[in-house]
Amino acid sequence: MAKRPPVDRRQFLAGSAGAMGAAFFRGAPLDALASQIALPESQVWDAGQVRHLLPTVSESRILLKVSFERALSDTPTLRIGARSFPGRMNDTRGSFWQFSATGLDAGTTHSLSLVAANGSSLCEPWSLSTFPPAEARPDRFRLLFFTCAGGPEGTYAGIGQRRGNLPTVIRNRLLRRALSFNPDAAVANGDHIYWDLHRWSGQLTGALSPRAESSNFDFAGSVFGTSNEAALILAAGPQIVPVYGTDFRSTPVFFLQDDHDHWENDAAGAFPVAWFQLQLARATQQLYYPEFLPEANRPMGLPWSSSSDRGDLSESFGTIRYGNLAEVLLYDVRRTMTLGPTAVFVDSNVEEWLLSRTTSPGVRHVIHAPSNPMGWSAGKWGEWYPDILDSDARRLTTAVPKAFWQEGWLRQHDRLVDAMSGMRARSPLVVSGDLHAIGAARMHRAGTLDLAANPVTTVLSGPVGTSPGGFPSVVRGVGSSPPSHLDLDESVPPIEEHGFTLVDFLPDRMVLSLFRWDVKSQPVGAIDDLQPFYTTELSTP
Ligand SMILES: [Fe+2]
Repeated sequence: MAKRPPVDRRQFLAGSAGAMGAAFFRGAPLDALASQIALPESQVWDAGQVRHLLPTVSESRILLKVSFERALSDTPTLRIGARSFPGRMNDTRGSFWQFSATGLDAGTTHSLSLVAANGSSLCEPWSLSTFPPAEARPDRFRLLFFTCAGGPEGTYAGIGQRRGNLPTVIRNRLLRRALSFNPDAAVANGDHIYWDLHRWSGQLTGALSPRAESSNFDFAGSVFGTSNEAALILAAGPQIVPVYGTDFRSTPVFFLQDDHDHWENDAAGAFPVAWFQLQLARATQQLYYPEFLPEANRPMGLPWSSSSDRGDLSESFGTIRYGNLAEVLLYDVRRTMTLGPTAVFVDSNVEEWLLSRTTSPGVRHVIHAPSNPMGWSAGKWGEWYPDILDSDARRLTTAVPKAFWQEGWLRQHDRLVDAMSGMRARSPLVVSGDLHAIGAARMHRAGTLDLAANPVTTVLSGPVGTSPGGFPSVVRGVGSSPPSHLDLDESVPPIEEHGFTLVDFLPDRMVLSLFRWDVKSQPVGAIDDLQPFYTTELSTP
């Protein structure tokens, strides 16, 4: 390929991620931030025509989502060794493509390259490893978790001087610090974008939001091939493309969707989501981040989660299977949550899959990653729990009914934690998203269920992009709290700071490492030296 000089970090930021930031930063602070961003490898890897690249893998497959600087009129190709896999255009202009490679050797580091139709390289080759086969016995697997990395970027001019969601360069820095610990894969658990189409509070609740007005979507039109497509890309692109760029090219990602990924906040009546917003959610995923690859123990027909024209991918239910060491069950509750006498969070077929995998032997650690948190409530409508904010007392209560909340959601919660706790040969663990906090606790009781013999550890993974107003204590006047349904032993009561979580899976234990960074008191440079502020080991009997 025509080799470009190493990426000039300042030019790169000014031209893409930092274009808006440059205006806000007015030069000097941006330079200071940008010059300190730690990811030496990206300075020597030539991204060429690639604007963003997010891969996922299984033991035998790779799926890439890629956007290019310029639209490609002819089909590009992914080359892995001697094999070639043609791209598939994901938008209607040729700027967004996906590449699906099958029949790969498991547990192998593959060399990948993207090539244009005329044979020229679109970026420098790079490496990506498939997971070990299901019967392998790896001795270690490190998984990164984070949540809420979306939001149009805000401004930062020093400690105490910030507005809106974190600037992209600070999100880059947090994610790069996380990547510096060399995780084998990453779970981005929900809320990759914030562009809610309806107001969720105040007198105009339910009316179009200012963002919806500016996007001017045709709610009765198709997403692709209309002005809706351009509006989607304008709204979602700046929240995803520069946040990840190509930093995760060698780290498989698992992106779960949550409320905001359906272009709506979690507020009474927002779900089941309107048809057009479901299509927006699907289109966002199609363009920007990979769906979930199939896995032998997950049924192919789980509802509300596939678009038939894109094959055997699931949009909402995923599995990370790493030999016999770890199985992570990923599930978005928003697609299948229902109301009424038979209400559930996840469809009965999804629950059956979760219960079956939770109670099956053969994998050392089986953990849950739901899009909605277990263990805490922020008083929001679409939670497992009935707790709601008593604004006078500034605390959560169950004395006031939460309108349109469903008892069936909580019953399903109890069936899931009962199954987790019942597997006495394992340490039950839930790592969730959505809540803008970092936390860890052990659940000893859920309603009438006594879980004390094998308590369920639950973790809030930590948010990456949250705005000051996004933290629960600001938006609702009370922080995330244990619901009355639970006996919760909080080793880390929810902390409203930015952060992330690493889980190390080892044959005899899991090690949790929680990271925090306080935008209100710590300089940006402290991100580069973050160490876990809390570590705990979950040993297995
Ligand atoms: Fe959420």
